[in-house]
Amino acid sequence: MAKVIACLCSGRRSGYTATLLEAALEGMAACDGVEAERVDLDDHAFGPCRSCFACIRSPDHTCVQDDAFGRGGKGELSARLATANGLLIADPVHNWGPSATCHLFIERCYPFLWSGRLSGMPFASISCAGNQGMHRLARANICKWVFGFGMRYVGGLAAHAAYFERARGEARELGERLGAAAVQDATEGRRPMADEERFLAYMDSPWAALNPYLENLTHGTMRYEGSIIAEALKAGTFTKPEAAKLLSEAAKLLREALAARARGDLEEANRVLVEASARWTHATWKQFLEDDVIGTAQPDAYRPL
Ligand SMILES: Cc1cc2nc3c(=O)[nH]c(=O)nc-3n(C[C@H](O)[C@H](O)[C@H](O)COP(=O)(O)O)c2cc1C
Repeated sequence: MAKVIACLCSGRRSGYTATLLEAALEGMAACDGVEAERVDLDDHAFGPCRSCFACIRSPDHTCVQDDAFGRGGKGELSARLATANGLLIADPVHNWGPSATCHLFIERCYPFLWSGRLSGMPFASISCAGNQGMHRLARANICKWVFGFGMRYVGGLAAHAAYFERARGEARELGERLGAAAVQDATEGRRPMADEERFLAYMDSPWAALNPYLENLTHGTMRYEGSIIAEALKAGTFTKPEAAKLLSEAAKLLREALAARARGDLEEANRVLVEASARWTHATWKQFLEDDVIGTAQPDAYRPL
């Protein structure tokens, strides 16, 4: 049986968001071999990540907090996620973005970044608004988060109470697609997403990495000369030899990624950005985190070179 967990982030257990979640569950029920379970996150106690980094240091990459996401991986939410074949998040739009509960849930998935255990897991989301909206923005935000874990993005529904009946049909259909992907995950095995596949697969999704990543790295200039990397090389802030070497390699690749983007070759730009960003990640880890903050080397599953 393929197991899907369908998490409700709204405190209103029979509200708009919950109704769309139920429609998605109907869609999943139409798939042979799917066992989907609704999980009201309000029933589970968990707080924010406390930045202790124990999940990075421990060999099994689990959380030490005494709550639903911790207990060395035995907390009910982390245990269920670890064995699921698919995840649905149904989330009310709060303050023009995802709800705090949704953000908390994602934040506490941090240990899975290091184990790589969510990589390739089928994922779908529902962002439901009832007032001014910004459900598309909320959907993009959730998409960005699951990109970070390398989940397989089956789809995201941006819904509003103003077209609720249509949204119900779309939620059902999304549930069917998630169910089918979960069955594939259960029968054929997990297909983790390598970084290049991940960056390319998300190119047409509600959130794609290329532009925001380059925008951030270049301080909004989209030019190498304006980038953090150029600034750091000039100032010599990366003093550890290994970090400085990685930074220089990242600099060359950043130039190439920007050039590919400028000539409109977005696939190539994404491919080179994967290389550049992996080196940038390792350089910053070595320089700022490894000895002073985390106390351990970068785990193998995270941004491999
Ligand atoms: C703290 C909070 C912030 C909200 N912000 C927005 C918003 O930015 N845009 C919007 O359209 N609705 C907003 N709403 C309304 C919700 O989207 C509304 O509750 C909607 O019905 C979501 O489904 P549910 O509450 O029935 O689960 C907000 C509600 C709360 C409680």
